[in-house]
Amino acid sequence: MEDIIISPQEFKKKLDNNEVRFVFDLRSEDDFKDGKVEGRYEFQTLNLPQEDFVGEEDKHIDKFPKDIPIITICAHGDSSRYTAEWLREKGFNARSLEGGIDLWSEYYETSKISDNPAIYQFYRVARGCISYLINSNGEGIVIDAMRHIDVILKKINEINVKVKYVIDTHLQADHISGGREIAQRIGAKYFINPHDAKNANYKYEELKNGDKLHIGNSVIEIIHSPGHTPGSTSLLLDGKYLFTGDLIMKTSIGRPDLGGASEEWTKMLFDTLFKKYAHLSDDTIILPTHASSIREQELGIVMTTMGKARKELDLYQIKEFGDFFKQVSSSLPPNPERYQEIRKVNLGLLNPDEKKAKELEIGKNLCGMSKNK
Ligand SMILES: [Fe+2]
Repeated sequence: MEDIIISPQEFKKKLDNNEVRFVFDLRSEDDFKDGKVEGRYEFQTLNLPQEDFVGEEDKHIDKFPKDIPIITICAHGDSSRYTAEWLREKGFNARSLEGGIDLWSEYYETSKISDNPAIYQFYRVARGCISYLINSNGEGIVIDAMRHIDVILKKINEINVKVKYVIDTHLQADHISGGREIAQRIGAKYFINPHDAKNANYKYEELKNGDKLHIGNSVIEIIHSPGHTPGSTSLLLDGKYLFTGDLIMKTSIGRPDLGGASEEWTKMLFDTLFKKYAHLSDDTIILPTHASSIREQELGIVMTTMGKARKELDLYQIKEFGDFFKQVSSSLPPNPERYQEIRKVNLGLLNPDEKKAKELEIGKNLCGMSKNK
């Protein structure tokens, strides 16, 4: 029989290959709702909190399928292992996810998008958060680093690139930025737009509309593209790749309410989509900072084009601001309280320990608007 432990990497492969059939999640109902494991394909899930299950196992035996593999999941991988052992004793084919949701939520995949300049995408699978490293002739830029900076540092060392600039496209609300930390560690300049860093408790370089940054043979044009936040900035690499932050994502547009000023920010969003981005050709490749679902990853990469965004995203079809605002107002997902705390962390006003940081980053990101609500 296969090893009782399944690593996050093997689990992701099985999710991608439609080989996950049944997941038994032993976490509390709230934790389950906040961060349900998702795959490209559908599978059955049973949520039964461990306190209701352990000691009463036999009562629940009929809930498990005999003929398909079961993967057990808990917070850290201990109860799920115990449960997988019990299921195996009873004749089920069960395996336990290594490290539980804790390790799963820190699992990243790295993909190379292009060769020259080389663009690397780091995808945090469970949360749908994305960071980038660009290498042009030995000089580099890091964009929207997550707090698990080792993932990026490893690649920087492996390809031996001298990173000159670290940029946050905006003040993130759903996850803790690793931008300042990685900039400090490698001796690079850290950039953010002053509208977003207004109350920041640290020094930074200002991202200014129209400025250009040079690395190797490449040029990055800075485009102030407010709406998701007032300081949201897009980065156009060699006139071809547009790093949009959360302004445009593959299947959604960034919500304009995370800082509270919804109507004002919605107007900025409208102007960015229809005016600021108007000059960009349809074949401009969009590389976003978030994905709404694992299904957005194709051949290991999350990307779209300006043409597809203009054609397929519902908000891009609404050309009149009044209607646009109405549609935005009815498409806003919940705004978790912890997002306000995360914004403070990213302004340098709070400094959570690892346990608190994990709590703040629970669940999938909610940066985009829901498609049809
Ligand atoms: Fe965001």
